[in-house]
Amino acid sequence: MSKSITAEGLREWLVAAKPVTVLDIRTREDRAQWSIPGSIHIDAYNDLKQGRHGALADAVLPVVCPVVTICNMGVVSQAAAQALQARGFEALFLDGGMKSWSLAWNTAAVPVADERIRVIQIRRTGKGCLSYLVGSQGEAFVLDASLPPSIYLTLASEHGWCIRYVLDTHVHADHLSRSRALATEAGATLLLPPQERVHFPFTRFAHGDTVTFGAVTLAAVACPGHTLESTSYAVNRAALFTGDTLFLSGVGRPDLHADADEARERARLLYHTLKRLLADVPEVLVLPGHASEPVWFDGVPLVACLGDVAGRLRDWLACEEGFVERILARIPPAPPNHTRIVEWNEAGVLPEGDPTDLEAGANRCAIS
Ligand SMILES: [Fe+2]
Repeated sequence: MSKSITAEGLREWLVAAKPVTVLDIRTREDRAQWSIPGSIHIDAYNDLKQGRHGALADAVLPVVCPVVTICNMGVVSQAAAQALQARGFEALFLDGGMKSWSLAWNTAAVPVADERIRVIQIRRTGKGCLSYLVGSQGEAFVLDASLPPSIYLTLASEHGWCIRYVLDTHVHADHLSRSRALATEAGATLLLPPQERVHFPFTRFAHGDTVTFGAVTLAAVACPGHTLESTSYAVNRAALFTGDTLFLSGVGRPDLHADADEARERARLLYHTLKRLLADVPEVLVLPGHASEPVWFDGVPLVACLGDVAGRLRDWLACEEGFVERILARIPPAPPNHTRIVEWNEAGVLPEGDPTDLEAGANRCAIS
């Protein structure tokens, strides 16, 4: 019988930089969807599944550290671990496979000029979902919570912060929002952009509205385009949390829950939103809602200055018509289950059982 490690166990090893070889034995096609950063790939899935246990006989792997074998569901990886154990390796399989890895996360501190404010980027590594915990003088807000509420509550507690506000930048289509549940558990105020999509109580946080705590002044900036209600949030005009409107080298897709005409109209709105956002001072930090790739356990925040992002997108935004055509021509496949995820997020409840059933797979919110 092979030994296993849980996703949380492997996550803790990677956070602690423990020496480990992560061996992904899935097919090339599955790996192309998403993977664990730093993992080695040997396409042994079909051989092992057919009982051809010699598939890893020639695999060259470090012998000084444990090997964790990875498949989609944690079944075939058991055979991989056994085959490696027979060769003398300390091998374990990832219990639940990549499906269970969906909720793995890490953090990175974002350097901000005002030392009274701490910004922590919380990265759901596999899906690339980025949420934020921003604290100052004993209080904090959480933005775009995509992980279980206990994770944010624990992180806030470790910093001595009480979570006062919980916000979403828009109604998400790629992950189940944990914001409502977090606000309830934290006793915090749930601030959402004005819209008539969700079916639960919230406090409207409209363009130009602000809340303050500690050294933080948090302001809402309407950013229609990705969705009509999409809103960015500025902290002290030093950091701009852009959700799925603006990424570090791309922009949000305008087509989810829209027909072709609506997608074109939203692309136009996005053009004007971006022109307005990118005209701000170039030193502002852009903190997006997604990474384009699985996020490394390196503690390096995914952030860029507005001026740098504007430079990357200059050609895109040369004219409205060109932008719209470029965006519409580059729309990626829709995220799996996005219609059902939106329904759950509009209802404001989490499905019974394992939420990763709906959230499986990589993120596809960006056009780059
Ligand atoms: Fe989105």
